[in-house]
Amino acid sequence: MKVAVLVTTSSKMDPETLHKTLNPYRNVRAGGKWSPAGNRSSSSEKVAILVTYKDREEHLKIFLRHMHPFLQRQGLDYAIYVIEQHGEEQKFCKGLLYNVGFTEALKDDPTYNCFIFHDVDLIPEDVRNLYTCRKSPFHLSVAIDKFEYKLPYVTLFGGVSALTKAHYELLNGYSNLYCGWGGEDDDMTRRMFKHKLRLSRPDKDFARYKMLAHSRNRTTDDNPARYYLLSTGVSRADTDGLTDLQAANYSVTSVTHKELYTHILVNITKRRPIKFGNPHKLNKTKIHHRRM
Ligand code: BGC
Ligand code: MN
Repeated sequence: MKVAVLVTTSSKMDPETLHKTLNPYRNVRAGGKWSPAGNRSSSSEKVAILVTYKDREEHLKIFLRHMHPFLQRQGLDYAIYVIEQHGEEQKFCKGLLYNVGFTEALKDDPTYNCFIFHDVDLIPEDVRNLYTCRKSPFHLSVAIDKFEYKLPYVTLFGGVSALTKAHYELLNGYSNLYCGWGGEDDDMTRRMFKHKLRLSRPDKDFARYKMLAHSRNRTTDDNPARYYLLSTGVSRADTDGLTDLQAANYSVTSVTHKELYTHILVNITKRRPIKFGNPHKLNKTKIHHRRM
């Protein structure tokens, strides 16, 4: 069948207005901000979605296209921040980027009280998975297709998670020391235990995600120091994070209010390698499989 879609417009509608009418993102304000008409959001929450990012342009496009309609259907008062790493350091310093994102988002708008920490490659499947904060730290990416929709281990906090502003400050944010794949989220779980906070989760029937395909080169991408950092992390929790962000080797290159997101470009200079003795001894520790 050949279908012709005929669109008629009133002769008074100029091309720009017509474009806005047809554009599903038409109400998104500069910087990727949106709130329900008349500010009738479903709660008094103001949510900042923090997306850490490096070399994943194709993922970012899909993510933004999906997330705006998704968050709007939930009736949230939200904004999307993309925190992009550039500079000499080749390994991805996710914890540090989240701390910078948290700090810069609050400079941009001090009224955020809920933060969602979001991998750029995770696409939520079900609108019932509400992007709001709860009384305790909330892990939203419970069931991911890559893990056959099963939670890999009970203390997992990575992927997509939510923390109130107050809890993030109490926990001193993420550690700034993890660069390269793995561990920064497990370190965060340990901070929570230290503060006697429990991890909660939505129902696995709707906390479902698709992971966009990407490769992981274990030799170049992984952080070999992560086991060492994890085994010593709790003792550093109060001094490594938001409190010493000033001393971390980074600078904010620019903050730009783009059409669909606020872009925070962060320069990270080469970090000194972390000395951790014999990795093989520590490698075998099954630290993150501890039960809650
Ligand atoms: C890593 C975490 C990661 C998880 C799931 C763990 O081994 O330490 O950082 O989120 O695996 O991939
Ligand atoms: Mn991933």
